[in-house]
Amino acid sequence: MSDTATPPQSPAAPPQSPVLPARTVVPSQSAARQRNADRELNAARLLRASAKHSHDPLTEIDWAAPVDPDHYALPAHRVALYGTPLWERLDERQRAQLSVHQFASTTAAGIWFELVLMEGLIRHVYAGDLTTGHAQYALTEVADECRHSTMFARYITATGYPSARPTRRADRLGKLHFLLNDTTMTFAGAIFVEEFTDAMQREMVRDESLQPLARSVARIHVVEEARHIGYAKPELERRWAAMTAPRRAVFRRALALLARQSVAEIVHPRVYALAGLDPVEARRAAEANPHWRQARIDWARKALEFFTDLGVVTPATARPWQRGALLP
Ligand SMILES: [Fe+2]
Ligand SMILES: [Fe+2]
Repeated sequence: MSDTATPPQSPAAPPQSPVLPARTVVPSQSAARQRNADRELNAARLLRASAKHSHDPLTEIDWAAPVDPDHYALPAHRVALYGTPLWERLDERQRAQLSVHQFASTTAAGIWFELVLMEGLIRHVYAGDLTTGHAQYALTEVADECRHSTMFARYITATGYPSARPTRRADRLGKLHFLLNDTTMTFAGAIFVEEFTDAMQREMVRDESLQPLARSVARIHVVEEARHIGYAKPELERRWAAMTAPRRAVFRRALALLARQSVAEIVHPRVYALAGLDPVEARRAAEANPHWRQARIDWARKALEFFTDLGVVTPATARPWQRGALLP
């Protein structure tokens, strides 16, 4: 994007016009200058917060501590199969293990999404100017995501979940995103995924009965993701305002697709296979499960409120979000 991270112009030299009174600024230039100033103020705030509240999960989490096989990683009612006949077939330890594998799968999906996001942020910086706070914050966010993805991989290893690889479908979608080179989609996707995981992980932080390791991972992620959301939202607002109607129509469909795929990815079919269940049957049971539907609606709520306020989701374009159980 050619307008990325444009350095703020000097406030001492407003453009003058011979037909306008002295010190009058042409509205579009004034708006651009204000926008850059707002962007830089936000970036300065986020950089200060990053300096104060950044975490190193490799040293702050005790990775060698034994993992209790009877601890749930997610509240039971947030496990995709909770309350289904398949759930009733599992004993208490198997249910706990299922919740741990579901959270491990969620962290694997997190790695997939963070790698896509990092590529988008690097592209954003490449097109910009690193003397701006806005571009410096983008790199700070990449540094956060590097630590998160490593933390998630450590969690996967510690719990014995076998792989951090995404599904083939997600893998292809990630590569398509690299090809499309759409930074606006990067920011919108980040808002959706970050709000969604934030809501899920806040529930984990609050529930003291859950596995301590999972709660430590969730706590670090919640603290650092709040800044990422604060960076992406004003950026999407600015870009959405500049988008033409035909482009908005395509964007709405693509974002709903990305959001639905990201959510589908949080329970990889191997989670069910590890529990000795048929992945096709289990996925069908999860899709029909009202508890699982409610979980997704609850976790998606803040992102959907933001998209609705902005006009990215409208009553006329809500259908794919409802079909994905992301809107009631
Ligand atoms: Fe993250
Ligand atoms: Fe993030």
